[in-house]
Amino acid sequence: MHISRRAKETAPFYVMEVADQATALEEQGIDIIHLNVGEPDFGAAPAVLEALPRIAHSSLAYTGALGIPELRQAIAGFYRTRHGVGIAPERIVVTSGATGALLLLAAALVDPGDEVLLADPTYPCNVQILAGFGADVRLVRADAAHLYQLDSALVRDNWGARTKGAVVASPANPTGSCIPFDELAPLTRTVAERDGWLLFDEIYLDLTEGDAPGGSRPSVLSVDPQALVVNSFSKYFGMTGWRLGWAVVPDDLVDPIERLSQNFVICPSVVAQKAALECFEPETLAIFDARRDEFRKRREIVLAGLEEMGLPVPVKPDGAFYAYFDVSGTGLGAAEFCSRALHEAHVALTPGKDFGPATADTHVRFSYSVGQDQLREALVRLGGFVKSLCPGC
Ligand SMILES: Cc1ncc(COP(=O)(O)O)c(C=O)c1O
Repeated sequence: MHISRRAKETAPFYVMEVADQATALEEQGIDIIHLNVGEPDFGAAPAVLEALPRIAHSSLAYTGALGIPELRQAIAGFYRTRHGVGIAPERIVVTSGATGALLLLAAALVDPGDEVLLADPTYPCNVQILAGFGADVRLVRADAAHLYQLDSALVRDNWGARTKGAVVASPANPTGSCIPFDELAPLTRTVAERDGWLLFDEIYLDLTEGDAPGGSRPSVLSVDPQALVVNSFSKYFGMTGWRLGWAVVPDDLVDPIERLSQNFVICPSVVAQKAALECFEPETLAIFDARRDEFRKRREIVLAGLEEMGLPVPVKPDGAFYAYFDVSGTGLGAAEFCSRALHEAHVALTPGKDFGPATADTHVRFSYSVGQDQLREALVRLGGFVKSLCPGC
């Protein structure tokens, strides 16, 4: 059978390979601690689950391609009360996760041959989606001095004749680092001056601490109300498998996105859309905020633990549930470090090669989406392993 060039060129997601190896060890009865998982260990909130029997007996017919009006209004309300920004519900597009939002936006924005800038390291699926629509993705090395993020200087230096846009994630996966608030306006201005588009992936934004009214860092929408933003119910709202997210798009993109969504997906999951309405009740938001607090406590434990074993985290994470540490001092490459940590310490981690070439050999992603007890145990195991690499040290 003929397989498309697009399919052949789509790289595997290596984190899945780590998961497979970990499962093989677990099948032998070995207890593995999973620090390789990119999803919160907290599931959907109780109110969301309790709504399911009622939803099962309601109409589950297709909805409009942009999502049900009540949910678009609820998301607009979330921006108003939690981020202090007024966004018309008509500009909110409900999608199948941030992934679905990225697919629709890439379809709407990218023509084959357009160059698009992303930081290296970066979340790999966004690269593959853009490339799948014919973008020439240019990974821009963003080192620790740049917080592993694109900033206005890097955009200026790397914008070429064919560059049409850039995608950033703040906080980012795998680093948890944010683009500083003071950099948001210069960054959006730099892209606008070049007549380009700039897409903000804010999927982890509500898992940060800051001075937005909801206690997180502010959205880029507070600086540029016409910014392009994707977000999701997967992380802060704990609904990964429900496949629900959204995009905030400027007025002139609503119609093209609606036509693309009608044709590509018809509509996002109706069950998930109706259940997600429960997320915005004050008691439910309080549960999510308590979880954010828990992630902050875990972050402190992880950073202290890694420091104690001499594994530097060059940029301290601002949020999400990741720490990106440098293993070059251990004498091992990142892939070997992860493979040996899995087999010798029974701790599953993700090597940097998933996130681009710049840190492929030197860095490892630690996901603290396990409870504090398991986290402490993982740090003890990892500490023993690191010590074994240099017995005399
Ligand atoms: C930065 C980033 N963007 C997007 C996604 C996709 O998330 P969703 O489950 O909403 O499709 C992820 C998932 O890990 C991510 O880390």
